[in-house]
Amino acid sequence: MLEVRDLAKIFDGFLAVAGVSFDVPSGSIGAIIGPNGAGKTTLFNLITGHLRPDRGRVVLNGRDVTGLAPHDLCRLGLGRSFQRTNIFPRLTVFENVQTAFLSHGGRGWNLLTRVERLYRDETLGLLQSIGLADRAHEVAGFLSHGGQKQLELGLALALEPKILLLDEPTAGMSAAETRDSIRLIERLARERGLTLLFTEHDMEVVFSIAERITVLHQGRVIAAGAPDEVRRDPGVRRVYLGERH
Ligand SMILES: Nc1ncnc2c1ncn2[C@@H]1O[C@H](COP(=O)(O)OP(=O)(O)OP(=O)(O)O)[C@@H](O)[C@H]1O
Ligand SMILES: [Mg+2]
Repeated sequence: MLEVRDLAKIFDGFLAVAGVSFDVPSGSIGAIIGPNGAGKTTLFNLITGHLRPDRGRVVLNGRDVTGLAPHDLCRLGLGRSFQRTNIFPRLTVFENVQTAFLSHGGRGWNLLTRVERLYRDETLGLLQSIGLADRAHEVAGFLSHGGQKQLELGLALALEPKILLLDEPTAGMSAAETRDSIRLIERLARERGLTLLFTEHDMEVVFSIAERITVLHQGRVIAAGAPDEVRRDPGVRRVYLGERH
């Protein structure tokens, strides 16, 4: 579904992503791991059009999409969430998801339609499936951190992605929130036939759901493969696991 070829990004002479290649097969769950500053978020930004690569290609379903704007990629089925939560804090939970549906579907209001009815069923259905139905009328900014991350996932799903890139979906969550959130993500991926690619620091999460892991270090792929292969890889143990344990 997604082919990344030799992607590179230079910030003021600093090679943040240094020629990264990997594939994400349709329907798979893949993880990108690596220490702080390894280049994971930059790599996601290159794939999703938030940054322009200095070199390399991004191919989505056989189509070269390198350099396309985020909203164009979104229309082609590429969704994402952000490491720092990106919701509308002053709107209610319902309005947040409704806004995402409106921006995607373009079913605008007219004088005969009441705004709160637009995408009402879709919004409530999605809130149900992300476990936020009973908080629909709370102001989003007052949700717990875990709740806000859940909502952000909902915003991404309202855009009906085929492939979803999640940048540290459990960042800052408690152990219990992390467990619930991962279960939720796994279930949604299965129900919707989504392809998932995520970055994550929590190794328990990574090894519990990723089918394929790509390890970045200083902007380069130092290992890639099934969780067991990656876990055993001496290079990974040295530069990554070794650093954290
Ligand atoms: N806009 C920018 N301008 C200059 N340098 C940047 C910019 N964005 C990222 N960097 C640098 O590029 C490197 C990779 O950063 P990036 O955020 O991609 O790492 P990461 O793997 O996502 O780290 P973390 O695990 O902390 O989220 C870092 O050294 C960072 O300081
Ligand atoms: Mg990051």
